[in-house]
Amino acid sequence: MNKEIRSPIDRVSLVEMGPRDGLQNEARMLSLAQRQVFVERLVACGLQRIEVGAFVSPKRVPQMADSAALLEALPRKGATRYGALVPNLQGLQGAIQARVDEIGLFTACSDGFTRANIGIGVEESLVRFAPLVAEARRLGIKVRGYLSTVIACPYEGPTKPKRVAALAERLLDLGCHEISLGDTIGVGTPGTVVPMLDAVLHEVPAGRLAVHFHDTYGQGLANLLPALERGIRTIDCSVAGLGGCPYAPGASGNVASEEVVYLLHGLGMHTGVNLEALAATGQWVSEQLGRPNGSRVGQALHARASHPAAETTQGDHHAG
Ligand code: HMG
Ligand code: MG
Repeated sequence: MNKEIRSPIDRVSLVEMGPRDGLQNEARMLSLAQRQVFVERLVACGLQRIEVGAFVSPKRVPQMADSAALLEALPRKGATRYGALVPNLQGLQGAIQARVDEIGLFTACSDGFTRANIGIGVEESLVRFAPLVAEARRLGIKVRGYLSTVIACPYEGPTKPKRVAALAERLLDLGCHEISLGDTIGVGTPGTVVPMLDAVLHEVPAGRLAVHFHDTYGQGLANLLPALERGIRTIDCSVAGLGGCPYAPGASGNVASEEVVYLLHGLGMHTGVNLEALAATGQWVSEQLGRPNGSRVGQALHARASHPAAETTQGDHHAG
């Protein structure tokens, strides 16, 4: 393993996607009360950035209806920042009213996906976003820019790294504080992720980037390593590996948060997250959704909790 993965700044910030990217694609819908318990449990695990909902059309994504009510119900003590997706002015107004801490604007590298997702092309989306970024920033709300299909588009095929770099730079120039690079359909391997990251890092500093890897082909963790090696310290992940995008057919959830925390703690990096509590939350939400737990680490820790004599390979898993 490359020693340069660990830099003097060995703290990694996790952006928990479970309540948004996770739940948006689940067949069974959680009630508002269940969503609130879910987020509160994630806060108790030590997660400080949680995307809790989306101000999108409830006809298109019914799982995200009531995101305003959820934000209003959540406790505001402590350092946790609650984020939500915003596709347009109507969404921004709802998010502001619900006292969101951070909004996520979302576009993609390909027109095919952007049109399926938000009904407009990439260029049009950037024009739409400009006044939204300005208004959010005027109110002191942080703006994250999501760039989807950075490896490939389900409608148009492979994406060129230079296209990703150019769009990431434009999102930054619009005023986004951070760009989240999304392998929306989870097809990347280090073979395609490395050239993409290197092209983007030519234009955007590592400190302004996050990686958002879906784990459809089981490459999420392998793809994280080159991102860490290149100094990227913000990682999107979803507890129990929940989720996917309704407009990316066949894509599965983000790389599981439990896997990411286990990996990072194993590398001696700090996350501030209690892995046992996280695994228990992943097991709990999987049961609420009536689905198998999609995290291998979660499954292992659940089995260990049921049979306490079992050994671990990594010893103590407490907050790193
Ligand atoms: P549209 O149909 O083009 O917009 O939708 P419209 O302006 O014609 O409005 C149509 C209806 O939607 C109207 O209601 C509007 O009021 C309503 P009606 O008159 O029919 O009753 N509407 C809204 N309702 C609530 N909130 C709003 C809003 N805007 C309009 N903000 C729109 C445009 C973007 C709203 C729609 O296409 C939509 O909601 N799309 C869903 C997008 C989405 O949530 N996708 C999944 C998340 S993205 C993702 O997962 C990728 C990511 O994880 C990164 C990665 O993995 O790569 C971020
Ligand atoms: Mg996603």
